Amino acid sequence: MKSNSKNIAVLISGGGTNLQALIDNTRNNYINGEIKIVISNNKDAYGLERAKNAEIEGAFIRDNDKLLSLLMEKDIDLIVLAGYLKILPEEIIRKFENKIINIHPSLIPSFCGKGFYGLKVHEAVIEKGVKYTGATTHFVNENADEGPIIMQKCIEVKTEDAEELQQEVLKFEHEILVESVKYFCEDKLKVIDGKVKIGE
Ligand code: GRF
Repeated sequence: MKSNSKNIAVLISGGGTNLQALIDNTRNNYINGEIKIVISNNKDAYGLERAKNAEIEGAFIRDNDKLLSLLMEKDIDLIVLAGYLKILPEEIIRKFENKIINIHPSLIPSFCGKGFYGLKVHEAVIEKGVKYTGATTHFVNENADEGPIIMQKCIEVKTEDAEELQQEVLKFEHEILVESVKYFCEDKLKVIDGKVKIGE
């Protein structure tokens, strides 16, 4: 048992490669936290298979009340949205202020908000012709993709193929999500005037 390890819930809707990065980096103790539950609003999400393979409890939940009661039952300290495609209810966002981290596959505030998810983000990046894109982790507030930014990683756009770009960005998503969760579990993330300071 790790000393003052944080209890983490990971919410998914799909393949779960970000979840896998967190599983790997909590199990090897790089992150001082333990994933207590993986929750999906899609019963066929491969991420639930990843949880099962790692012997982590998984749950298919669509009802927001059940979601909140499960988070409380598991005494969760940190919620991670790792490709979770549902909007969280305000009650959960308020109860877990600055304790919900989301990973988004662009440099927020570009290419985010309503309708910008998954491959659509990268298609819009290529369509616009921006020279750089990347990934962002941020705390979740009541406005989609607008909470305080924790980390970003930037890459040059060198392809016109959205799926190829998605795979390149995904590598950096895993990197900054693991780092962001590590810092959270070490109590190194402070939100001051709406901006995140990563401190000692
Ligand atoms: C990632 O691109 C993430 O940024 C977005 O949804 C995708 C989830 O991918 N929110 P995975 O399920 O973690 O592989």
